[in-house]
This record gives sequence, C-alpha cells and structure tokens, in this order.
Amino acid sequence: MTKMFRTICLCLTLLLGGNQYALSQANTNERAEWFTDDRFGMFIHWGVYSGAEGFWKGEKLRHGNDYSEWLQYRNRIDGDEYLTLLDKFDWDAIDPEEWVILAKKAGMKYVTFTAKHHDGFALWDSKVRNYDIGNKSGPKRDILKELAAACKKHGLKLGIYYSHWIDWEHPNSWDHTREVYGISAEDYDQYWQEKVIPQMRELLTDYGPIGLIWFDMWKNHSETVVTKAQLMQLKSLIRELQPDTLVNSRLGLSVEEDNDVDFQSLQDNELGQFKKDYPWQTAGTISHSWGYFAKDTDWKSTSSMLRAIINNTSLNGNYMLNIGPRANGDIHPEMTKRLEEMGAWLNVNGEAIYGSGAFDLPKEMHDWGQITYRETDNGTHNLYLHIYNWPLSKEITLSGIKTKPTRVYALADKSQSSIPFNHQEVVAHLDLPAQQPDDFISVIVVEYDKKPDVAVDLAAMSVTGGYSLLPSNWISADGNQEIVPIARFGTIPPHVDVTSNSTYKWKVYIEAAGSYQVDTSYSFQEEGDEGRISIKASNASINHDVIPTGKTVGEPDEDWVIDNYHSSRFGTIEFPKAGYYEIEMNVEPKNSKAIKFQWVWLQEVKE
Ligand code: GLC
Repeated sequence: MTKMFRTICLCLTLLLGGNQYALSQANTNERAEWFTDDRFGMFIHWGVYSGAEGFWKGEKLRHGNDYSEWLQYRNRIDGDEYLTLLDKFDWDAIDPEEWVILAKKAGMKYVTFTAKHHDGFALWDSKVRNYDIGNKSGPKRDILKELAAACKKHGLKLGIYYSHWIDWEHPNSWDHTREVYGISAEDYDQYWQEKVIPQMRELLTDYGPIGLIWFDMWKNHSETVVTKAQLMQLKSLIRELQPDTLVNSRLGLSVEEDNDVDFQSLQDNELGQFKKDYPWQTAGTISHSWGYFAKDTDWKSTSSMLRAIINNTSLNGNYMLNIGPRANGDIHPEMTKRLEEMGAWLNVNGEAIYGSGAFDLPKEMHDWGQITYRETDNGTHNLYLHIYNWPLSKEITLSGIKTKPTRVYALADKSQSSIPFNHQEVVAHLDLPAQQPDDFISVIVVEYDKKPDVAVDLAAMSVTGGYSLLPSNWISADGNQEIVPIARFGTIPPHVDVTSNSTYKWKVYIEAAGSYQVDTSYSFQEEGDEGRISIKASNASINHDVIPTGKTVGEPDEDWVIDNYHSSRFGTIEFPKAGYYEIEMNVEPKNSKAIKFQWVWLQEVKE
C-alpha cells in the first residue's frame, strides 16, 4: 500500500470524524508500515526442548495439546535434568543461516526467533542468571547473534520472541502451578526486575536493530499476575532503546486498551475474519506443534497456507509461519517442501501480497476466492482475484464494482495477454483460459485507471450461476437477526429462528430480462402450526405454505438426530429488464412456532 494512499485514508478518516479507535492507531501504523507491507514472516521455535522431540524417558509429552515446547512443564521435569537435553545438540551441524536462507526462499521478509521461551532458557550469551546457551552449552555459541548476522546478510528483519509472563526457571516467576500455590506481587516483581528487564536490555542493545518483539501472554494483564505498570515499564524500555521496534498485543495489553501497542496477535492459527485499520498478525504452524515433535504429521497443505496469507492480506493482516528445527538444526523435509512451494508461488504472485491489502468488499462476498488490492507505482489500481478453485465453466463473475476495468490478465502470464471480459453496470464476467495459470492458486489481475467504485450492499453472483441470499448478506432485517451459528460439524447450518412476522431484504443486480427460479431452505418442526413465507420482487409475489421438514440423522449409528433443513421450490419470478432489484422475504410464523430460515437461492431459468 502506498504511503500516499495511507495518508489519504487517514485524512478521510479525520474529515469524516471516524471513530477514535481508528485515529488512535496512526502512530502505530506509521511505525509498522514495513510489517504491514511485508505480510509474511517466519517464526522459529527452537530451544532445549528441541532435543527431546516431544518425548521424555520414553513417555510422550503429556496433555493432548501436544505443543512440544511445553515438555518441561507437562512432564514435570526438574531444571538440571532438563538441561541434559543439550547433550543431544549437534553443534557442528547447527547453522542458523540455513533457516534464514529458507525463509528468504519461502518469500518471507522477517524471522522471529524464540530467544527465550517459557522454559526460561536464553538462546543468547546472557549475563543475566547464568541460564543460557553461552553458559550451559559446550561450544558456547550465541545462536541469536548468528541469526542476527544471517538476517542482516540476507536482508531480512529480525524479530525476537521473549516469554515475559511465564518462566519456568526463575523461582519467583509465573508457572501455572502458581494457580495452586500462588505468588505474591512482590515476589513476582523480583523476577521481573532481575530477569525480564535486564534481559530485554541486553536483547535491545547487543543484537542490532530488532524489527519486533513478540511477547506471549495470551490474556489481558488484568487476568494475570503481571501488572499494567510492569508492562508499561517494559514497553518504555523498548521505546527508549529501539523506538522503531514493534510490540505485539500478547504483551498483555490489547490494541484497544493501549494505542501504542503496534500490532494485534490473534490466537494461534486463527485467521482473520474482518478488515481492520490497525496492523495484526496470525502466527501459524505448518503441522501442529511449534517446537519439533517427532509424532507430528498434521502437515497443512501448501494451498491452505497460501490461502492463509491471502486471507490475511485481504483483511490488512500479516501471517507468520512457524518452523521447528531439530537439535541438529535440520528442518523436516515436509516443511522445507511446503516453504519452497510457497516461495515459488510468491515469486510469481508476490505483487498481489507484498504491499497489497484489503479492498472494500466483504470477505465472503465471492465464492470463487478472495481479493487483494493495491495502487501500483505506475498509477493503476489493481484488484487481484485469488481463485481457489478454477471453475469448470471457465467463467467467474466479479460483482459489486461499478468502474469498468481497463484490462484483465493472469499474474502468472509474463506476456500479460488479455483475458476477455464483459462489464455491465456492476458485474464483470471474465472468460478464463481453460488451463489454470498456477497449480495452487491462480491470480487474475483486474486493472482500473482509478480506485474502483463499489456497490457494497449487493449479493454476488455465485460461481455456479445464481445468487445465494443469506442472513450474512441481507441489506435490512425487520425481525430477529441473530444468526444461530453452525453446529454439530456443520450438520446444523447457520440459520435464524423466526418466531414473529418478519421482513428481510436483499439487493441483486439482474443482468438481463428473464425468469428466475426461487428456492428457500428452512427447517420447521411444529406440525399443525405451519406458517407462511412469501418472496416479493419486481412487483410479483410468491407465497409458500411452510411444510414440516422432519428430522434427519447427522451421523449414522451415533444417535445423532437433527432438524432437517430442506430446500423448497417456491416458484419463479420474472424480471422484465436488467437492473437492480430488491428481493423481499416475509416470514409469517403461526403461534410463534419457529421457522428456521437458512437461505434463498435465486437462479435464472435457462431455456
Ligand atoms: C502459545 C504457546 C507457545 C507458543 C505460542 C505461539 O502461546 O504457549 O508454546 O510459543 O503459542 O503462538
């Protein structure tokens, strides 16, 4: 995203009197510009626990959460014994530069390293507390220093993970057994002042420029032993020593509470749902565990991780993907393979990710994939359509954009040969080539000579050729709007319980006069009290007497009986000419008996 664009946005927000929240992030946005533009980074979980690979004295890591870096805590290992794991490290083989080289190959722009994880062991030559790699390992390597040098050499930024809240080494720190035995505020502060603060000082003084500090307290300070004053002390130290270093919200302060927190960390592997005006990030794993875990085989596919980057970019977010090297420094080939595939994809399609960001249409609007946007250096405004499933019909529709594109081409096509398109009022049909340009996710560039104008309230044309009218895309609701979330593994779809007369409206753009079939899916369980649903559009009305839909079995042999959601054919509606139409649905339950509405499907009847 260009600086100018961001400045314009900020001015607009000011002019329009945007909420204080958006305004308050202005400094943060400025400092975090590199982070927002870079979009993709590497997380490295590597430490003493890597020597165990998730096993201790023949026993697997306890607890189903299976995060191998928690081994010491889970399997109740004493500190001295824990450090015997260092004997498994092959110091001749370990080369942090290789991790950085892989990050670079993967198209990642920064590397965040677990300098001190919850076990409290420092992976740099710390002068604080004698519990560090410089004092406890044979060759006394300062892995952080080596990593910092490699990052500098290869042009990546260095981030530091530092576990501030939890530390299993210091006798007065937080360890979850304190939930039983407690700890006084004074004792905890002793840990803070004699370990956290001096170690952070070392990290911010001796290792060159630090791009970000990644703290890891996934709760607000008010629910923990850590005080806001301690967090402010820590943050001030960072600002004093390295004013450009970013700080994440797992410091224990939310972006809402403190507008000086630079970016929000979502929960582990949680992808973004909404566009946000401040920087945010998902930290994710390639398999399940963060640290190397011998039993882990839950490898995510390359395309699902590419979708994660695209999803987050399309909502102005960032994605940091983790590797857990082994105690000889090796990275599992399943990880390497995926990272290299992602790098190859970014090499071709990076324009749609780096420096690109959210566009003004809702996340789920198009069912063929997601959209990212940028203003290019040569003044064009590009939408990047990330097509997750190349359509059999070889056609997709981009709905909701009034501006006519100047040209359309595949990002993977070096010659940028034009893809034929047809734009009418607010829809563009693209005639895609038969062969998808990319094996994973193909990106189609739709170019405009100005920022495209949107019609935000439209329901889009589905890739299968119809309009899906849902509680999530209606434009008005006079009645219950609460969406009962998806349940029982999706056998109960999202729906709205309608118990009194209610009216819902959607807006569509119909491209040509024609006859459209109307189907509606609902569940109704109260025999004898059937109500009515009517659909009105284009001066016509179709009435439907609700039919009890009965029950169904969600999963065989598991006593899993659920209300049936069934599609009923309501009839057809004639649209006399092309144009915008409102589709209105009136639901009239009888005796307050719930009609559970799921969707309306509108599809042209082809001769
Ligand atoms: C959790 C875990 C930790 C891991 C982190 C990564 O907070 O405690 O082991 O480092 O998530 O996001």
